[in-house]
Amino acid sequence: MATATVGNSVVFLPSRLTTTSLSRPPIPKQQTLRPPFSAGIRASTATAAPTETVPISNGTFACPICYYPLIRKESVSELPDFECRTCKKGYFSNGLYVDATVTGGSEEYGETRPSSTELFRTPLVSFLYERGWRQKFIWGGFPGPEKEFEMAKDYLRPAIGGAIIDASCGSGLFSRMFAKSSMYSLVVALDFSENMLRQCYEFINQEDTPKENLILVRADVSRLPFRSGSIDAVHAGAALHCWPSPSAAVAEISRVLRPGGVFVATTAIFDGIFSWIPLVRTLRQTLASVSGNKFYLSEAELKDLCKACGLVDFICQRNGPFVILSATKHN
Ligand SMILES: C[S@@+](CC[C@H](N)C(=O)[O-])C[C@H]1O[C@@H](n2cnc3c(N)ncnc32)[C@H](O)[C@@H]1O
Repeated sequence: MATATVGNSVVFLPSRLTTTSLSRPPIPKQQTLRPPFSAGIRASTATAAPTETVPISNGTFACPICYYPLIRKESVSELPDFECRTCKKGYFSNGLYVDATVTGGSEEYGETRPSSTELFRTPLVSFLYERGWRQKFIWGGFPGPEKEFEMAKDYLRPAIGGAIIDASCGSGLFSRMFAKSSMYSLVVALDFSENMLRQCYEFINQEDTPKENLILVRADVSRLPFRSGSIDAVHAGAALHCWPSPSAAVAEISRVLRPGGVFVATTAIFDGIFSWIPLVRTLRQTLASVSGNKFYLSEAELKDLCKACGLVDFICQRNGPFVILSATKHN
């Protein structure tokens, strides 16, 4: 992963993409410093118009602990290191992705997440994800990645030319489409799963996906490594129901969105007539607490969740349990 530093801020650049094994990252080679992607992204401050161009180094990436911009740290190793000046914490690239999790680099401390997060960290599920697993979503009314992408693109129109995060990107199904579309100045493929990101890296390589504006970042959706108000859009495909706390995640998404920025997500919902039967609701909540899976939020709950997190103009389309929703950060 190459970087460029301008002023006090750091830009993460994906370096050469090479084929890697499923279980371990490739041995990193000497990294080369390349110019920033396009040298600029759309302005993303609270007051700037989205058409204005500012350098990407203007602090888009931030420490997930204190949210101050990250800086490049001098390193004797081959890989670049990054540091938060405030926390004195380093964030490291392994040649595939930048680990911007709070516990990244911890030697002793480890945390087990709910099963809906842990499942996707396994090499097997990550490997199978685009090789049959994702295709089964069609049974839940998901129209399929190409159609979902077309639907999402409509809602994402206000973000054209700007920075988009594909939150919980998995193996990068949509991140790759965003990068290929050339519609965004920056595409962040973000996931908590190391193995999903590894798969993403391999697919990018195999498909010859344009890499100039594409970055792979490991992060928790509830603790995003971006400055407040710096992002034009967040897309989250089939992920909201996997997040340990949808409210913590959507609040965080709202924090990083610029005013007028859009959140677009797909998920599965449950709000037919049976959902009103008290026993069914209790059962649903019990299942959710046992599995850590937030399946079957209703449309009304999703709308309320967005509103609670400062996102307005909620709209959604449905197809059976499948729903695609869009909500906008207050202007
Ligand atoms: C069903 S997959 C969706 C992948 C892809 N977006 C799609 O549309 O097919 C759910 C993803 O959510 C990710 N995930 C679960 N918990 C997460 C968390 N706390 N932070 C970030 N990503 C998380 C998983 O690693 C997994 O890749």
